[in-house]
Amino acid sequence: MGAGGRWQVGVFSIRLHPLSLQVGGVSAAGLEEQNPSAPHDLQYQDFVCSAQCDQWVRPIARSPSTPSQMAAMLTLCLLLCLQPADSSAAAGSRPRSQTGPRLQLSHSELRNSSGVFWTGGVSGGYESMLLDEDHGWLLVGGKDHIYLLRPDRLDLPSRSVYWPAATEHVEHCRLAGKSLETDCANFVRLLQPFNKTHVYACGTGAFQPQCTYLHLGPSTEEPLFMLSHAVESGRGKCPFSPREPFTARLTDGELYAGTSVDFMGANAAIFRTTIQGSSQHYIRTEAYDHNWLNEPEFIASFSIPDTHSPDDDKVYFFFKEKAVEAGQWDKRVYSRVARVCKNDVGGRRSLINRWTTFLKARLVCSVPGPSGVDTHFDELEDIFVLETKDPQNPTIYGVFSTSR
Ligand SMILES: *[C@@H]1O[C@H](CO)[C@@H](O)[C@H](O)[C@H]1NC(C)=O
Ligand SMILES: *[C@@H]1O[C@H](CO)[C@@H](O)[C@H](O)[C@H]1NC(C)=O
Repeated sequence: MGAGGRWQVGVFSIRLHPLSLQVGGVSAAGLEEQNPSAPHDLQYQDFVCSAQCDQWVRPIARSPSTPSQMAAMLTLCLLLCLQPADSSAAAGSRPRSQTGPRLQLSHSELRNSSGVFWTGGVSGGYESMLLDEDHGWLLVGGKDHIYLLRPDRLDLPSRSVYWPAATEHVEHCRLAGKSLETDCANFVRLLQPFNKTHVYACGTGAFQPQCTYLHLGPSTEEPLFMLSHAVESGRGKCPFSPREPFTARLTDGELYAGTSVDFMGANAAIFRTTIQGSSQHYIRTEAYDHNWLNEPEFIASFSIPDTHSPDDDKVYFFFKEKAVEAGQWDKRVYSRVARVCKNDVGGRRSLINRWTTFLKARLVCSVPGPSGVDTHFDELEDIFVLETKDPQNPTIYGVFSTSR
């Protein structure tokens, strides 16, 4: 909870080091009622994020160390992204209200705009996107469809492909008590570049996840946009549910995913599966062990090199989870970053098919509050990695909020 009891949002920078992680704060933006002169600007101040986060822990060891919603996040995004071209007219005449956004778009204005992709609300569930800057297109995964959009005609997909769930899976899903409209369809949750001509795609397949390849071909003007006939199981690659928070990254032919592998969404793990390998080899975090992961909500994942040797490459997962450090009755949520080595092959005698390099740390971000009580930003909402000239040291920004 924020110092003043208000729900607040902050933007922090996060620095990753080989064996320690610092949360180095450059700035925090609280949606606070502190500065009435500029109420519409996020108040970037030189708060320094407390850097207690210098400890990576293995899952077996316990470490000493401290809950969130999209509506306010959207407000933040509107504040940040939507600045009207002509702001002087509106802003000059009216006094700015304390909490109102700079620009408001009504639902019908949005729908009428040619800059908005909208399929009449029938598809919905746009959960995955893949921007291809070289080809100048954006792939969007929806319900039973993948669309290709071009920047000049965002409102009208230039290609689309129908990819439904198998009829028997839809029926099984319905019999299990799920909704035909919102659950028992193939919600495309993953789109990752596979090679120069193919994209790897996974969908929930009516609670029976499935993956395949989307053939785009060599041409930018006339992409093929054809699905492969080969459909693989999406277990450990894609969640069963269209709504479960999920992240995955395909790198060097292997898919690293933070997802659950069961109908109920209770068996969540960080998985690595080989794509297109004849072997069924996989590595994961231990199942149902709260020291590894405790009801995680995955936010993002990235492959970041550690040294110049590819053997040292690491994959980072950002998520939040129920804090095991807090007492049994304390339902606190903490933000975390976990790391695995790409060259991890699992244990030989123990930890077979389990990560031997899994480490995690808490992201501790707080700012001094007005009354001397620190405001803790315990809940990670989103992550953005800004690549720099030094690939080993990208600048990582996290949007955090206080717990409600
Ligand atoms: C959007 O379009 C509909 C029908 O084309 C029209 O009736 C409505 O007034 C438009 N809304 C706005 C805000 O322009
Ligand atoms: C890309 O992957 C697809 C699917 O496995 C394969 O059929 C195709 O030959 C590959 N293309 C290249 C250029 O490697």
